[in-house]
Parts: sequence; C-alpha cells; structure tokens
Amino acid sequence: MQDPPECFRDMNAQYGEVVYLDAFGQPMIILGTHEAAIELLDKRASKYSSRKFSAMGDLTGLSWLISVVPYGGRWRGIRRNVHQHMNAKAVTQYSSIQQREVKAFLVRLLDDPKDFSAHGRFLFTAVIMRVVYGLDLKPDDDYIHTGDRAITAFNLAFLPGRYLVETFPIMRFIPTWFPGAKFKRDAAGWRDAVLRMRNEPWEGAVKAIREGRGVHSMVLDLMDRVNAGQDEEIAKDAAASVYLGESEQFRTLSTMQTFFAAMANYPEVQKRAQAELDTVVGPHRLPTFDDEKFLPYVCALIKECLRWKSVVPIGVAHLSLEEDEYHGYRIPKDSIVVSNIWAYSRDPRHYTDPEEFRPERFLKDGQLDQSVLDPGLIAFGYGRRICPGQHFAKRTLFTLLSSVLHTFRISAPTDEKGSPVPVNMKMTLGVISYAEPFDCNIEPRSAVAEALIRTLRDEQIITDMGVKA
Ligand code: HEM
Repeated sequence: MQDPPECFRDMNAQYGEVVYLDAFGQPMIILGTHEAAIELLDKRASKYSSRKFSAMGDLTGLSWLISVVPYGGRWRGIRRNVHQHMNAKAVTQYSSIQQREVKAFLVRLLDDPKDFSAHGRFLFTAVIMRVVYGLDLKPDDDYIHTGDRAITAFNLAFLPGRYLVETFPIMRFIPTWFPGAKFKRDAAGWRDAVLRMRNEPWEGAVKAIREGRGVHSMVLDLMDRVNAGQDEEIAKDAAASVYLGESEQFRTLSTMQTFFAAMANYPEVQKRAQAELDTVVGPHRLPTFDDEKFLPYVCALIKECLRWKSVVPIGVAHLSLEEDEYHGYRIPKDSIVVSNIWAYSRDPRHYTDPEEFRPERFLKDGQLDQSVLDPGLIAFGYGRRICPGQHFAKRTLFTLLSSVLHTFRISAPTDEKGSPVPVNMKMTLGVISYAEPFDCNIEPRSAVAEALIRTLRDEQIITDMGVKA
C-alpha cells in the first residue's frame, strides 16, 4: 500500500493541481504544487489559517497547544508571544546556549557514538528548556519522563486514522465505560502528563524568578508582561507551545538523523564539506555563525537535508474559513487543506534526480544559487501558520551539523568482508516522520579533532547559565 504523501501526489498527477476528496462528509483539498500552496495558504491567508477541531486534542488536554488552536484572538495572542521570542532577530540571542549544548553533544558522541539519536533528543530538549524556561536540564530530570509521556499522547492522539472520534466528534459524549470508548480511557491516561508538561516547567521557572535565581529566558520576559497585565494563561501556552514544538515533537531531530544517514551514504559530499570547513575554520576551533557566509557548501548540504527527507510530509492541515475559487476549482468553506511537503520537495520542475542527495543543486560558481527554490520555503509550511520555530531550527542545525562535520567522520557500517553496507533509511509514518533506527560508524576525523573535543569536556564555559528549579 502507498503512503499518504505518495498516494496524494499520484492523485494530483492524475486529476490536476487541486484534488477534492470527501472524507465521511468532510471536504478535503489536496494541493499538488508549492505554487498552489503559496497562492492559497500564503497569499489568501485570511481564508486558510484555521485548524479543524480535534476531539482527541480536547480530551487529552492538548487543546491549548498553538498548532491545535483555531484561528482567532486566542491563537493570535499565543502566536504574538511566540513570534517575539523566535523571530529572525530574537533567535540570535540564543547562540551561546546552542553552542554550549552542541559542545556537550560532541563529547557524548565521542564517548558513546552508537547512541547518536538519544544524544540528539537530549540536546534539543536541553536547548529549548534553557531558552524557554531558563532551566538547566539534567539527564535524570523528571521533566524528561513527563515529556516522554506527553509525546506519546501527542503522537498517538493525532495519528491520522487511529481514533474514529476525530472523524465523528459527536462520539466524545459517549460515557467512558461504554465498550467503544477506549479513546476516552486512553485520553484520560495521558491527560495528567500533558498538563504536568504544560505547568511544571512554568512553575519551576516562575519560582526561580521569584526567588531571585531567574536568568534571561522567554519566561522571564513573559512574566514582565504578565506583571504589566497580560493574561498569564496565554503566556504559559506560548512557552509550552515552543517547548513542545521543539522538544516533544523532535522535528529538528528528524533532520539530524537524515544528516547522519546522508553522510554515511555519500562520503564524497562529506569530504567536500570538511575540506571547506578546514579552509575556512581551521583545525583548532569549532565553526561559529560568523563563518556561515563563508561556508556555501555546508549551507547547501543543510538545505539538502531539509529537502531529501521531509520532517512533516503532509504538513499540518489548514482549515478554510470561507468559500473560495482557484483556477476554476471551487473550494468549500470548512475544507481541510493539505500541503504535500514531501511531493513539493521532489518536484522535478525544481529538483532534478530528487532521490539523490546532492547539495551541488543549490550552488552556482561556488556560491548559493538564489534561483533554485529553497527547501526551507517548503519544509516549514505556509501562510500565517508557518513554523514560528524555523529561524531557531535553522540556527540549531547549522551549529550542530557544521560542528559534527568538522570533528567526526561518519561512515556506513561494513559487512563481514569489510565492504560498506549503505544505510537503508526508512521513514516512519505519522504527522512527524523520523528515520527508523539505523547504525552508522562515527569516529573522530583526526587526532587533532579528538583533542579539540576533549578540551570541550573540561572547558569552563562562562555564560549566563540557567538554574535548576
Ligand atoms: C527542522 C525543524 C522543523 C520543521 C521542518 C518544522 C516544520 C513545521 C511545519 C510544517 C509546521 C506546520 C505549518 C503549517 O501549518 O503550514 C510547523 C508548525 C509549528 N512549529 Fe515547526 N518545524 C521545525 C522546528 C520547530 C521548532 C524548533 C519549533 C520551536 C522552537 C517549532 C515550533 C512550531 C510551532 C509552535 C508550530 C505551530 C504553529 C501554528 O499552528 O501557529 N518548530 N512546523
């Protein structure tokens, strides 16, 4: 059976750029091209920026989450708070936190390369915990266990097709003891973790601020606004939406996994990126954001990671708020509108040989070619719902991937004869798609690189570090 993104792509190829489906009376529109998604979701954003009501979101206590909240005043309030801390300028203030945690990641990778995905999970959670709440995460923190339960809730509650109540929301009124009401019992089991995940780090951060231990963080800033009269619940929702947006859904982790698999399978690409880093950065330090503009190949490689395997293959569906018309197609009010990010990322009009991992496609005369469609304009969605964490994610990816390339060599595992066995990268199905577990060899690139990482272990990093609640 075909995966939904492939199935949708074939439907668009057969029936046209806009396909209308009827899902038990719910109109559903599949947009077949990036251009159609821009035209409707972006240029006509006021008509296409809501979300469909989610009965499971409501029952699990996730209805405060920004990605679930329908278009309107509450969503705007949360989004404004998120934007103020995650816009392109604001995210530059988080560089030292990103760099500190990436250094810790490199040390863990040196000690225990097999567990690279687990180290990535910890890295992304630690960075966002510090940025949002000003808290320093420890490996055995309760926040991690609560977060793990909340992520299960999120992933299962929103898994398309898993719960019939999502199609027939009226079912949410049947009693819990009723034989078909397993969804209610599941939701009740997750609710506690979801609410703790929203409340506990907030309370930890507020306590630290009140006791004079508060450090610069999103919550410190939000508390100033609350003290000036802003609604505390909206502020709390904004903080938890960013925390969940990064740590629990691990979108950036998915791109990191893609990077490790691509480097194992394309050694020539890896060598070319490393040669560029050697020339620009030299062997005795890690790359920084100041180097970025001198590293076009590394930047092209990161773009290719975002394009090659889609993190959110069919986006997060938008809901239309009024009837519309596009190139002769009628789009009814209350339609679910799907952007097929996976298909746009391999549209041969923009990317030749799309299944190949080839950063060169973004370069011309050794510089980034602005005429090639940037996959960042696809991967992060469209219109007013576009990912508010995109600038933050791109900076985390640059810090992490350039530092790993600079210090480690990644290669495919070998068979008993010593021949490399390419990584077979299979992506999971779901709202967010990850690589199924795979092995690759990760070792320091050189004795100098290993020594550099060892100095990081002992380094006393002087920053405005956070506090443990
Ligand atoms: C490679 C990393 C990431 C990718 C590919 C990604 C992709 C996306 C996509 C496709 C959407 C849906 C957009 C739409 O509705 O059209 C989205 C929404 C969202 N993302 Fe990201 N994201 C990433 C990282 C992050 C990070 C690091 C954060 C937080 C710091 C974040 C926070 C959010 C939030 C809060 C929303 C919901 C926005 C709303 O509904 O108003 N994302 N993301």
